[in-house]
Amino acid sequence: MKRYVLAIDGPAGSGKSTVSKLVAKKLDGFVYLDTGAMYRMITYKCLENNIQVEEIEKIKKILEETNFDIKEDKFFLDNKDVSFDIRTKEVTSNVSKYAAVKIIREKLVDIQRKISEGKKIVIDGRDIGTVVFPDAELKIFLVASPEERANRRVKDYESKGIKADYNETLKEIIKRDKLDSEREESPLKKAEDAIELDTSKLTIDEVVEKILSYMKI
Ligand code: CDP
Ligand code: CDP
Repeated sequence: MKRYVLAIDGPAGSGKSTVSKLVAKKLDGFVYLDTGAMYRMITYKCLENNIQVEEIEKIKKILEETNFDIKEDKFFLDNKDVSFDIRTKEVTSNVSKYAAVKIIREKLVDIQRKISEGKKIVIDGRDIGTVVFPDAELKIFLVASPEERANRRVKDYESKGIKADYNETLKEIIKRDKLDSEREESPLKKAEDAIELDTSKLTIDEVVEKILSYMKI
């Protein structure tokens, strides 16, 4: 089987995970990897153990000792299902800080490359097309206005029965965009050879169809 990496990057709420999952489902033999969930897992573990971003030795130990596992749609830390715990507001508002730590990125990028080896894979994140797979077969960079992304996030929270304030969510999204794109290590940015797609006024199906049409496989 020939490898095929479809790299999908973009800011929070641009539609990466929804679209990536659907594209992988529509294609024969493709799997999906959500790299954001991996950064959320390590953030959750550090918060649980009260480890701050400056405590590099402690982070190193956590990275060595922790077993990260992904099975279908579920995420496991040392065999505990943390799929729900990694989506809380607390993890969301702290994840960009931990994702800026060099040793965390090195370890997770290493795992991401190992998981993807020889596979047909749709992989989404912030640095997939620039750092993890600069040689990806196709790179897509999804964008949408911050207001549209905040609206989507509020709806997401509400559908899970979690109350969310629009203005607070918008502020959080803008703050995370800034931290993710201004950090030193692997900042969020469009790879030169990525196709940019503004999803603000597109339905999910329209985005999926456009990506499939670029794939030519
Ligand atoms: O789903 P949402 O867009 O809210 O975020 P996510 O994809 O779950 O990613 C959470 C955070 O992880 C991002 O805000 C980034 O700080 C970090 N991340 C990263 O640095 N590199 C990646 N490849 C993926 C996520
Ligand atoms: O993974 P990322 O944070 O980039 O975004 P997402 O979690 O896939 O999408 C956030 C929300 O926007 C989801 O509820 C999607 O259903 C919705 N969405 C949309 O309404 N229109 C699109 N074109 C893409 C996503």
